[in-house]
Amino acid sequence: MSEALLSIAGLSKSFSSAGRSVAALDNVSLDIAAGKTLGLVGASGCGKSTLARVLLRLTRQDAGSIHFGGEDWLALGGAALRVRRGRMQMVFQDTLASFNPYASVGGVLDDPLRIHEVVKGPARRAEVARLLERVGLPPAYASRSIRELSGGQRQRVAIARAISTRPSLVVFDEAVSALDATIREKVLELLVELQKEQGIAFLFISHDLAIVRAVSHDIAVMEVGRIVETGNTGSVISAPQSVAARALVAAVPRLVTARLAEE
Ligand SMILES: Nc1ncnc2c1ncn2[C@@H]1O[C@H](COP(=O)(O)OP(=O)(O)O)[C@@H](O)[C@H]1O
Ligand SMILES: [Mg+2]
Repeated sequence: MSEALLSIAGLSKSFSSAGRSVAALDNVSLDIAAGKTLGLVGASGCGKSTLARVLLRLTRQDAGSIHFGGEDWLALGGAALRVRRGRMQMVFQDTLASFNPYASVGGVLDDPLRIHEVVKGPARRAEVARLLERVGLPPAYASRSIRELSGGQRQRVAIARAISTRPSLVVFDEAVSALDATIREKVLELLVELQKEQGIAFLFISHDLAIVRAVSHDIAVMEVGRIVETGNTGSVISAPQSVAARALVAAVPRLVTARLAEE
């Protein structure tokens, strides 16, 4: 087996609330190969977003290690971390809250290009147009305000922002959960295309197995802070081993939608 792009080992994180300690992550270990999608699925409150936040260095772990692109990711700090942040990007669910609502679409996309020095000077404007086209939006949208966009359009801008720094991993946390079914399908198709084209690895998080299976090569099932099952998408769905995986499979009325990732 080739070395994983991302390797998480023994990750733990507890929160204390009302004098009690809640283990949001309990000895979590996961690998993601370059260019592949790992779907992380589990009931609400099982610790998925905590895992995403620790990965993105927004929440500090209690224990465990993360190796990303061959480096000890949790040991990086200061300038070394800032320089590398563009390699791992994130798309959240609540798109309006993850933008400055008064920003323009062009401004949202220009910021990371400038900060991470992806392209310089006047070339940034052309790069913003290229990014918008790539996610299926007219380049003229650069001058629009974020508030004028629909939920699906905002999520396309969030995807464009995430890929602007040419990351090797993007974490999607319930990124399509709030979209209508037809719009969601289109966004999932875009993600699969972008992955094939650019070789980006995805950690695709959702409470909904039907969404996860559409894009994931492998699936990890989480239950109260622990990974209880991992395997390739087909085998987890056709022969779930854990109680949690069986419950998730049983909760999906119809698991016959196209498996986009398998084409
Ligand atoms: N900042 C926090 N302070 C206290 N408890 C938290 C915090 N963030 C998450 N938790 C708790 O950790 C557990 C996992 O939460 P979360 O990672 O958001 O789950 P999920 O994303 O799977 O719904 C839950 O019990 C949640 O209440
Ligand atoms: Mg969550």
